[in-house]
Amino acid sequence: MIIRPRRLRSGEIVRGMVRETRVSKDSLIYPIFFEEGKNIKTPIDAMDGQFRYSPDRAKEIIDRCLSHGVNKVLLFGIPKEKDEKGSQAYAENGIVQQAVRAIKEEYGDSVYVVTDVCMCEYTSHGHCGILCGHDVDNDETLKYLTATAVSHAEAGADMVAPSDMMDGRVAAIREGLDDKGFKNVPIMSYAVKYASKFYGPFREAAGSAPSFGDRKTYQMDPHNVREAMREAMYDEEEGADILMVKPALSYLDVIKELSYNTNLPVATYSVSGEYSMIKNAGKAGLIDEYGIMCETTASMFRAGADIVITYYAMEAADAIVKGDIG
Ligand code: PBG
Repeated sequence: MIIRPRRLRSGEIVRGMVRETRVSKDSLIYPIFFEEGKNIKTPIDAMDGQFRYSPDRAKEIIDRCLSHGVNKVLLFGIPKEKDEKGSQAYAENGIVQQAVRAIKEEYGDSVYVVTDVCMCEYTSHGHCGILCGHDVDNDETLKYLTATAVSHAEAGADMVAPSDMMDGRVAAIREGLDDKGFKNVPIMSYAVKYASKFYGPFREAAGSAPSFGDRKTYQMDPHNVREAMREAMYDEEEGADILMVKPALSYLDVIKELSYNTNLPVATYSVSGEYSMIKNAGKAGLIDEYGIMCETTASMFRAGADIVITYYAMEAADAIVKGDIG
């Protein structure tokens, strides 16, 4: 006797019925880069189709997101001035703070604004914290990250997302937010963030490549998954509300493992290198960009992600409506 799994693949309707991964537009977050100035929309060469905006043009990109049904964004800032202590990261009128205010003034609660909390875009040396010699001083950095998260919340951010990988930062940020009356601002922690070459295009976009050394003393070794579970567990104990794995595609096993090991929502960030590889291979005619975007996005959800942060959020949202994803 031949066992025939093909029976349940015989047509669109039956395939739709037995599909195991169901995806919603509600689960997508779109990252946006803001820079200081007026009337700016600069293409990011390393990330075709992505731009850096000045806050006064936030409406243009947010309206586009909303027209695709994407109402959650993750903000990054590129300051004019960088210094040793990354002071524009926590300045009251810093670039992210300006962008958050611009979006909140225009849209109120109809757009959910998450901010990336880190120092690498703001420090003159490009590392994710305060230096002590050639290393990042963990405990000293916590104060600055907390100040950054609080200033984002004061500007109106709905959620903060620390991406620095310092030990103890979730607890420090939670305490800082609570102290200032932001008890209900959730923390999505980049709990499992690998020291990855997939961030290359982002570092060009944000001008945040380290001026010396690398990030291996704080970001994780790509070979490790047990350590990933420990990192995630510590963040959960410290009060994280959502745990993120980053990057996504080379770490689907980590997403899966984490989804079995936590009861918190699991997010993944499909990073700049993943986007640019698909985009450029598509442009070169080597692959079907849309098809690969659908397949890879579905794989992140299948692996166990509840939330996907992606530069393809708008395209993915359209694909979900068409039934090409989920
Ligand atoms: C900041 C940060 C980075 C990314 C998100 N937050 C860069 C890095 O750690 O070097 C990468 C995002 C992407 O590549 O799309 N620390």
